[in-house]
Formats: sequence, structure tokens, C-alpha cells
Amino acid sequence: MNYRFHIAIFLSAPATALLAQPESQPSRTQIAIATGSIQDAPLTTTIHSAIPTVIPQTGAIFPPVGSIPHNFSPRGLQELWNIVGSVEDPPFTTTPVPKTPVVLPSNPPALYPEWFAPRPSKIFPDLKLPKGFKFGVATASYQVEGAAKSDGKGPSMWDWASRQPGAVSDGSNADVVDLHYFMYKEDVARIAALGVNAHSFSLSWARIFPFGVAGSPLNEVALKHYSDVIDYHLASGVEPVVTLFHWDTPLALVAYYGGFTSPKIVNDFVHYATAVFRAFNGRVKTWYTFNEPNVYCGQIASYPFDIAFSPGINKTTAPYHCAYNLLKAHAAAVKVFRSMRINGEIAFKNDNFVGMPWRANSTADKEAVERHAAFGIGIFSDPVYTTGDWPEVLKEILPPSILPRFTKKEQEDILGSADFFAIDAYRTQWVSSPPEACINDVSHPLWPACNQVVFFDSEAGWAAGPSPDPLSSWLQATPNFLRDSLKELQRRWPTKKMYIAEFGFVEPSENERQELFQITEDVARTNYFMTYLGEVLLAIHEDKLPIAGTFAWAMLDNAEWNSGLSARFGIQYVNYSSPILERVYKRSAMQMSEFFRAHLV
Ligand SMILES: *[C@@H]1O[C@H](CO)[C@@H](O)[C@H](O)[C@H]1NC(C)=O
Ligand SMILES: *[C@@H]1O[C@H](CO)[C@@H](O)[C@H](O)[C@H]1NC(C)=O
Ligand SMILES: *[C@@H]1O[C@H](CO)[C@@H](O)[C@H](O)[C@H]1NC(C)=O
Repeated sequence: MNYRFHIAIFLSAPATALLAQPESQPSRTQIAIATGSIQDAPLTTTIHSAIPTVIPQTGAIFPPVGSIPHNFSPRGLQELWNIVGSVEDPPFTTTPVPKTPVVLPSNPPALYPEWFAPRPSKIFPDLKLPKGFKFGVATASYQVEGAAKSDGKGPSMWDWASRQPGAVSDGSNADVVDLHYFMYKEDVARIAALGVNAHSFSLSWARIFPFGVAGSPLNEVALKHYSDVIDYHLASGVEPVVTLFHWDTPLALVAYYGGFTSPKIVNDFVHYATAVFRAFNGRVKTWYTFNEPNVYCGQIASYPFDIAFSPGINKTTAPYHCAYNLLKAHAAAVKVFRSMRINGEIAFKNDNFVGMPWRANSTADKEAVERHAAFGIGIFSDPVYTTGDWPEVLKEILPPSILPRFTKKEQEDILGSADFFAIDAYRTQWVSSPPEACINDVSHPLWPACNQVVFFDSEAGWAAGPSPDPLSSWLQATPNFLRDSLKELQRRWPTKKMYIAEFGFVEPSENERQELFQITEDVARTNYFMTYLGEVLLAIHEDKLPIAGTFAWAMLDNAEWNSGLSARFGIQYVNYSSPILERVYKRSAMQMSEFFRAHLV
């Protein structure tokens, strides 16, 4: 997750408008951009843009778009890596083979007296999950793989961005991180021991096509690697669920033509997707094209990907051109998927939420909710699930020079280009209208989405839910709103099958805990998962929602984008100081295991 800046609502406001955080907190800046929210400011405070200076003081300036020649030789690859700088070698480059089955530790003692909270197996014990339900965990290539330059991989934009001063709050990068690239057997064996039956992970486009583009060499070593990873999952009884793109854009594509701001991305993505479909058809049954396009396209115009780093990218138009090109890339890849008669299902991973009016009877807040829904989740869900076109409110506010309009043919291709609805359902919060006029004021910091996410009620100021570690201040645990939130998704974008593709929480202060017994006792995360899963049972049985799986973010601690290794989302601890990068189950992993053992049929 995510959240990383994960979550986020992109397009809730233009990047320039959202730079509301103090310059001393570059990581928060990203969060603010992503959420378009006001979590750190009282509602009445003017959101003023203190635009941080993003010109790197010491890091490499990103080369002007188009200035790097297409040179597909090893030397050309090294030239791309020179833009990134030096990369840390992995501590080991062989794949340890675990003793299976992995032996679990004893079950942790009950967290509370039963009169306060039931054991996981006793949460609605009579309600079972539907047959075939996916008890999943999730990861993403950049966040867990490490081996950043191993086996012929090309650089991704995150290999570059993580090195820019101020980009990652703790100064870490993901050169090594979990070294899941070499540790995948142990990782899969460890989740299999928990009873996990599905793992949602992403492929690194820059591993498979180091230069990204169609016509450039395919890296057979990488394709073989992912083939082995998929086979090991299948042999372990863990279904591989594959995402083609989880934000780690091949650097070459940005250097050549500005990445997703250019229509050239469509053909290159389809070319990459086709190679992957062909290679793994029959072994992978559930596919995603894109992870959280809403967040990704919001970042494309914001720190650290902004104009200072990628000359030629226009911050005002880039998020919308990205959305336009990405939707066309998605639809084109799905068209190929269907024409190849790939045996499986495909969609993309939505993020964000519709939200509730902060002041229940306020017309202004109800309208703000609609803008929040349209600019956040609707910008991708309306075209794919209901209309083939942008939400009306976007077309009303944004001229075609900013938001390109779809042709009839494009609309036909996009509408229906998903077999199910996937939502990264981390949280649901209130939405309010800015106190002053916004929609007709392009200089307003919240224009054009003109809404603010609020974390506390309008009456007494009580929180929507418990807060996580401040590193992930966009997040709250909001199980109480989950069912209504899912019902609202189903009402607006009806589907026959829904996955909760990610959900998760960062234990407060976990990164400051020194002792293992403190780290593994992740009570806040455990409560998050147990309360959400209980609500999922009710959503299935009482609300009749077609939820077919839940994927916990994350399988293990990982590189949380601009929060680095300090924001720990894992249900397993990873000891980054240990020479073997030791993994340890946290309480949340054990209790989730108990929950699913009791509720899977
Ligand atoms: C909001 O509207 C509801 C239903 O119309 C009403 O019962 C309630 O008193 C109103 N609340 C406020 C604060 O006006
Ligand atoms: C960005 O695009 C907008 C809309 O086309 C245009 O008005 C603006 O001048 C452009 N900005 C730059 C810096 O080129
Ligand atoms: C992490 O590993 C280091 C080196 O092996 C060790 O000294 C330390 O105690 C470990 N930390 C925890 C919390 O287990």
C-alpha cells in the first residue's frame, strides 16, 4: 500500500494546489498531494501552497524528455542506469529453499477478555465465506523485490526518484529492501503456512523490457524468473494474482517521451502486456492491468515527478493526459487479453472512496462528495464500468485542452473493459466543501475538485476511526463505514464480483520499537483486520455483496514509497539489519490465519 501515498485521491486537486505541507516535511507533501486532504490543518485554515523547492541540490537532474537516444545495447542500458546513479548490490543472489511446511509459532494469547472482543474464530462464527474465497496478501514489485539492477533489469522511475534529495522521508531506497526477488520461495512458503491461498503481486515492466518500448529486447532471464515464481506459488497452493503495472514506470519511457503523458505509452504497454499474457496464460487466472491509476496519475505531475525533474511535463495537464492515456492502454490490453482468449479475468485496482457529507444536511458538502467521487474514483470507474466517458462534472469544469475527450470508438473500447471490480478499501472519511468559492476560481488551491477530506465529525470532532502511525496520516481505521462504502460502490458501478484488492494499517510507532516482542504485538493492525473482516462477513451475508476475496497489504514490511522503510505495513516483520533479512510473523498474521481457518469453507 500503500500508502504510501497510496491512497490518495489524485485528481482531487491539481498538484500545484495540493502542496500544502511545510517544506520541512517533503514526505507529507506527497501525502497531501495524494489525498487532496487537509489532515494536518484545521478546516478553517487556508490551504496555502508552500511549493517546496524540488530542484535537487546534489542529485542528478532528469534529462530533458527526448534527449536520450534509443540505444538497446548493454552500453545503452548502462547509460540509463547512469541517470539513476550507483545501486547497492544484493547481499546474496541465490534463492534459499525453505524447509516446508514452515512451522508456525504457537497462537498468540487472546487479545482481550471475550466480553470485550472475540477471538478471530468467534467473530460471527456461523457466517462462512463463499466457496473459492481468496484469502490473499498483497505486494508490489518495487516495494519488495530489491535486486534493483540484477539479471539485466532496467531502471524504473522509482529507482531514480528514491535517490532525489528529500523524496523519501527516511532517505532509504528499495535497492535491497526485502530481496523478495531471491527470497520468494521462503516468502511463499511462509504465507502458505498461514493458510493464505492467493498472493497479489506485480511484475516489473523494466525487468522484462529494460528499455520499455515495443521493439526493444525482451529480457528472457526476467521472464523465466517470474515463470519460476508463478510455478512455485502454484506448487505451494497459493494462487498467483498478477498486476502488470504498480507504478514502477520504466525510466526509459519517461526519458524517451514523458511516460504516461504521451499517447506512445499505449502501444508500448500493450506490447508488454501481450508478452506477459502469452508467457503466463493458463497459470495466472486473475489479472490487473494497473494499480490505483488515480494515485499514479496524480503523482505524475507532483513531487518528485514534477516539471523540475521532467522538463516538458505540464503540471496542469499531465494528470489528465495520464488518465486518458492510461485508460486507453488498459482498454487496449484488455482487448488483446480477450482476443487471445486468455483463460481468466482482468480488471484494474481502484482506490479511494465516495465519502460522506461532513455536515449531514449541507448541500455544499453533498456536492463536494460528488466532486470527490468524480475526480477520485469516478474518473476511472465511470469510463470502464458505466458510461465509457468521464464523469459529467469533470467535463463541466475542465476544458478539452486539459481533459482530452474520448472519441466514440475509444468509449466503446473502454466501456466494459473489466470483468470485476477491485477496490483498495483502506478507509472511508467525510468530505466537505471549501468554505470559499472554488469551482469558478482556477487559482483556488483545491480547484478543480474543490473538496476536502475530513477525518473527524462536524458535531463534536470525534475521529472517523483510530489513527495509524503519523507516517501514514492519510489513513484511518474505519470499519464502521466499510459496508456502506462498499454498497455505494456497488450502487454506482455495479459488478458481479468484487475483490478488496488491498487493505491494511501501519501500527503506531512500530518503526521505533526495538524489541521483537514489541514489534510482533501489533494490536492496532490486528484490530483493523479483524473488524474489517467481520464487516466483510456481514457485507456478504446481509448486504449480498459479491465479495470474492480480500488481500491484506502487506505480506511483509516493505518500501512505502516516499515514507521509505519506516512505514511498516507488513503482517510480517522484516529485520533489515539481519544478514538473512529475517522475517517474523506478527500477531496480525497469526490472527488473520485463525480467522480464515474458521471461516473458509
Ligand atoms: C438533518 O436532516 C435530518 C433529516 O431531514 C433531520 O432529522 C436533522 O434534524 C437535520 N440535522 C440538522 C443538524 O439540521
Ligand atoms: C500547460 O497547459 C495549459 C493548458 O493547455 C496551458 O494553458 C499552460 O500554458 C501550459 N503550461 C506550460 C508551462 O506550458
Ligand atoms: C535484527 O538483526 C540484528 C542483526 O542480526 C540483530 O542484532 C537484532 O537483534 C535484530 N532485531 C530484532 C528486532 O530482532
